[in-house]
Amino acid sequence: MTTALITAPAALTLPDGRPARAAWSLDTVSVHINHGSFGAVPLVAQEHQNTLRAEMDAAPVAWFPTLPGLVREARTSIARFLGIDPSRTAMVPNASAGASVVYTSLPVRTGVEIVVTNHGYGAVTMGAERLARRWGGTVRTAHIPLNATAAEAHDAIVAEFSDSTGLVVIDQITSPTARLLPVDTVSAEAKRRGIPVFVDGAHVPGLYDRPLDGVDCDFWVGNLHKFGCAPRGASVLVGRGPLADELYPLIDSWGAPYPFPERFDTQGTLDQTSYLAAPTSLSFIEETWGWSNARQYMTELADYAESIIAEAFTAATGDDHLVDAGMPVNALRLVRLPRGLAGSHPEADALRDRAVDELGLEGAFTCFDGVGYFRLSTHVYNTPADFEYFAERCVPALGDWAREALRAL
Ligand SMILES: Cc1ncc(COP(=O)(O)O)c(C=O)c1O
Repeated sequence: MTTALITAPAALTLPDGRPARAAWSLDTVSVHINHGSFGAVPLVAQEHQNTLRAEMDAAPVAWFPTLPGLVREARTSIARFLGIDPSRTAMVPNASAGASVVYTSLPVRTGVEIVVTNHGYGAVTMGAERLARRWGGTVRTAHIPLNATAAEAHDAIVAEFSDSTGLVVIDQITSPTARLLPVDTVSAEAKRRGIPVFVDGAHVPGLYDRPLDGVDCDFWVGNLHKFGCAPRGASVLVGRGPLADELYPLIDSWGAPYPFPERFDTQGTLDQTSYLAAPTSLSFIEETWGWSNARQYMTELADYAESIIAEAFTAATGDDHLVDAGMPVNALRLVRLPRGLAGSHPEADALRDRAVDELGLEGAFTCFDGVGYFRLSTHVYNTPADFEYFAERCVPALGDWAREALRAL
């Protein structure tokens, strides 16, 4: 693959002219180009959460009885942002919790098959495997090539459906491979066959407008604390269709007699201020740049970043490092690493840790089918200089580390 020369977009600024990053508390010691893993919270939302915590700590007896009502208001506002029905939307702490709720709530179906894909998030796939074991069933894995088109990915997933399929678990944006999967057509086909579908949309909120339009799945989870920039521990679980009212929170509390999703608003004595402050992050980005402009900037920056990083690797190795991800994501991209790096999941994690220590890089490294990748994320606070640093400083170091690794074989 070759890249046309891609121009860097002008970095975003705040209304007072300061760089966008001044609205975050990210340190200046590191380059932060892995928003996709743990997000980053703007100061205004941190301050809102701190204020809420102060109120909670000042008068807990007054605070806790009001909490379910506050959670309800927050999820209504979040659901409106996502273009989904608030009466189908529950708050959960994270995508893992959403998956756990689905897996523990579904009625037992002995001996059924659960269909997952080879691009699934490890922890969510492991949960599906445990569920299959509990049900005395099995997991069937759809193998989708990294560069599969929507139609090819659809066909690969649907080919694993059978009369015994009891659940499909599919990512909307995949974590190791930073690509989209055709959750709309797969959900439609599953529905036609009466198979429940759980869509893991962990990365989706903030990245795509109205992400559930045209996606008729039974369950969907999305993290607000990734691209939505909410305080960590704020996610939504959407439940629709005949099984929605089977969903119960992991913490069984006084909400139990209520229907879905109200029963999720009561979680015992728990700090749920992350839910309450999440709308502040969403509004901050809307009011400062507008989400639509923010997404356009993130996309243009990702195009630029991907091209300069792949070119830098190519200059060092002579190989092509651009990746055809089939259905690419706007603000998450993969660049192939030199051979010898991140050939397994533990090696990818070790590379991430070494890059933090030796390069001041907060980055993400992934492995898929034994090949190592650098996964870059862009957000409004990133600038072209972040990725130029990677191309100029990190690429040569990674080249040295790859040569070291190959020599050690
Ligand atoms: C696709 C996917 N699913 C689930 C998760 C888990 O998210 P959390 O750690 O917020 O539970 C992630 C995290 O990166 C993810 O990428």
